[in-house]
Amino acid sequence: MLRASGLHKAYRSPSGARLEVVRGVDLEVAPGELVAITGASGSGKSTLLNLLGLLEPADRGDVWLGGDRVTALSRRGQSRARGRSIGFVFQSFLLIPSLTALDNVLLAARYVGGVTAPVRRRAGELLADVGLADRARHYPPELSGGEQQRVAVCRAILNDPPVLLADEPTGNLDDANASVILSRMAARARAGGAVLVVTHREDVAAHASRVLVLDGGRLYPGRGTRNHR
Ligand SMILES: Nc1ncnc2c1ncn2[C@@H]1O[C@H](COP(=O)(O)OP(=O)(O)O)[C@@H](O)[C@H]1O
Ligand SMILES: [Mg+2]
Repeated sequence: MLRASGLHKAYRSPSGARLEVVRGVDLEVAPGELVAITGASGSGKSTLLNLLGLLEPADRGDVWLGGDRVTALSRRGQSRARGRSIGFVFQSFLLIPSLTALDNVLLAARYVGGVTAPVRRRAGELLADVGLADRARHYPPELSGGEQQRVAVCRAILNDPPVLLADEPTGNLDDANASVILSRMAARARAGGAVLVVTHREDVAAHASRVLVLDGGRLYPGRGTRNHR
């Protein structure tokens, strides 16, 4: 469902030095799989996820979504493909401060099918599922970091996207809440989604079909990989 080949990305540091962050990544996440990527802070995990989520252009290499080589599309075609196929949980949540938690979740539906009564109901159910039933009318500044993160996860899965990409989705959560989020992601995989989670948490491995390590800009098989399918 999600495939990448030969991805490269370099940045310029403020001093002008070239920083090669992603140096030839090949990856395939099949429907029904939950793949975890770990790696040291600064190893390029967020950068890689942004390339896969079509949020940043790669210098080289290609991304396929469901058989389509989406890196060949225009910027506009790419954002359409992203809206249709990808749910993304940002490390920094990126909630809109002037919208309630519920309306932030509903943002995902605005560009895909629109906000109908059943979609509204489902958004409420997703929030209740992660323990936020009584926070639906709150605005992000009135929510804790962990609560904002759970809202961001609900937004990413509202449309049942075939591909779910999550950047440290449990970073701000205690064990109980992290476990709720991880089981949501695993459920998305069981329902046929291709799920890719960047994390430094050990317990993610227990939910993952495969664990990969990003090191020196390349992906390697990690420990703790087991097949739960
Ligand atoms: N827009 C950018 N411009 C310059 N350097 C960047 C940019 N984004 C990330 N970097 C650098 O790339 C490296 C990888 O960053 P990142 O992908 O955020 O790592 P991780 O998510 O694994 O912590 C870091 O050294 C970071 O400073
Ligand atoms: Mg990161």
